[in-house]
Amino acid sequence: MTTSRQDDNPHFYAGILTISDSGAIGERIDLSGRKISEMVETAGFKERLKDIIPDEVRIISEKLIDWSDGGEVDIILTSGGTGLGPRDVTPEATKNILEMEIPGIGEAMRIKTLDRTPFAILSRSTAGIRSGCLIVNLPGSPKGVEECLDVIMESLPHALEMIRGWKTHKEPN
Ligand code: MTE
Repeated sequence: MTTSRQDDNPHFYAGILTISDSGAIGERIDLSGRKISEMVETAGFKERLKDIIPDEVRIISEKLIDWSDGGEVDIILTSGGTGLGPRDVTPEATKNILEMEIPGIGEAMRIKTLDRTPFAILSRSTAGIRSGCLIVNLPGSPKGVEECLDVIMESLPHALEMIRGWKTHKEPN
């Protein structure tokens, strides 16, 4: 019997957070969030939380704290707000609340997709861990989501297995 990839990681839960001023007021269809949903489901994760919020540092940080500390999801994938515009604050809002940053995830997405678009280097996306939850920033366009998620998808189950140790690890007295 063949096993589909959906059966491989049935135990990882994902939160999908679109960060977009226009999306948050319903002026833009959330194609990027939809693309993330498709890709994580195909990879065998279960989507558990989803939202669209505006490009505000406080709102983004609070949402990331709420979702990661809440313990319902193993991974949060954000899209949008990673560029150079004055309202692009997702990396700052993410770094503010991380317990451990993982620079390699953003670096890999930029370098591995640079042959697809020279604009890959304009995303300042980062990633890291909080409360045993992996948080990853992706660019805002569906194309950027697809290309970048494709680069890191293979590493995610192993990363999530390692990060699980955070939930049980206690510092010695
Ligand atoms: N990376 C990949 N692989 N593919 C893309 O299409 N778009 C770029 C960049 N990274 C893109 C990408 C563009 S045009 C911008 S402006 C930045 O991501 C930041 O996008 P954001 O502000 O929507 O997050």
